[in-house]
Amino acid sequence: MGGKNPYMAEKPARLPTRKYQITFMPVNVVAEVDPAQLDEPHNGLKGSILHIADEHGIEIDHACGGVCACSTCHVIVREGFDTCGDSTEEEDDMLENAPGLKPTSRLACQAVPDGSKDVVVEIPDWNRNLAKEPPH
Ligand code: FES
Repeated sequence: MGGKNPYMAEKPARLPTRKYQITFMPVNVVAEVDPAQLDEPHNGLKGSILHIADEHGIEIDHACGGVCACSTCHVIVREGFDTCGDSTEEEDDMLENAPGLKPTSRLACQAVPDGSKDVVVEIPDWNRNLAKEPPH
């Protein structure tokens, strides 16, 4: 899925201007983010944590396709929280539905780091799609 939420005001893009890294925990994958290499996202805002995760093969659930209409992409920003921009009222409303909410929780599809610092993101246990059903 993907696209736009028609009930949400368009958020101005605030993309990073320099290269930086996002470390995804506990899978311990370091994603190098080069703003010049960012493609159009399949899910979430361009440059969002979900977009970067998608591009690096890291699975974060995203039931609504990254349009701020669920809370399945909840992540906890362990470092670099202040670089991820302010959350909107719509994001805060959705986050209230997420289990295990922390002061530095964000929706991965809405949080766009500005690249001024490296970022460390924890994917909560319940959001990790590590145990998959084997093919039939
Ligand atoms: S994927 Fe639904 S809010 Fe982020």
